[in-house]
Amino acid sequence: MTKPSRRDFLKLTTTTLLTASGLIGLGGLIRFLDFQTDPVPKTEFDLGLASNYPLGSRTIIPEAPALLNHGQDGFTALSLVCTHLGCTVQEKPEGFTCPCHGSRFDEEGNVLRGPAQKQLKPLRIETTSGGHLILHNG
Ligand code: FES
Repeated sequence: MTKPSRRDFLKLTTTTLLTASGLIGLGGLIRFLDFQTDPVPKTEFDLGLASNYPLGSRTIIPEAPALLNHGQDGFTALSLVCTHLGCTVQEKPEGFTCPCHGSRFDEEGNVLRGPAQKQLKPLRIETTSGGHLILHNG
């Protein structure tokens, strides 16, 4: 058995290292090309028949997240996404409280205490010809 020369050993080592790094790079490229972005968030919600929400009702729509209000002037909706950094606010007897950094909002979504600076966003509600409520959150 012949002993490999120093030159052959270095050539074999270099080839092995280059092949390994090429395969690692190719794996990264395949993962990069196969990357799938998050699906576009839903911005329209069919809330069912308007008659399911009696006058005076306040209904939380968790998937939006929003609060649907049926008052004397009709239906209104308020986003429950905190205007500070986007946490979902929780309904309390005196309005809404953000669990993340403590912002507080009154029942109309006006800021009572920061760090949030802007009121909760009013959302558009439309009624279809079939009597369904459509909530637009976008
Ligand atoms: Fe609501 Fe910061 S995300 S107070």
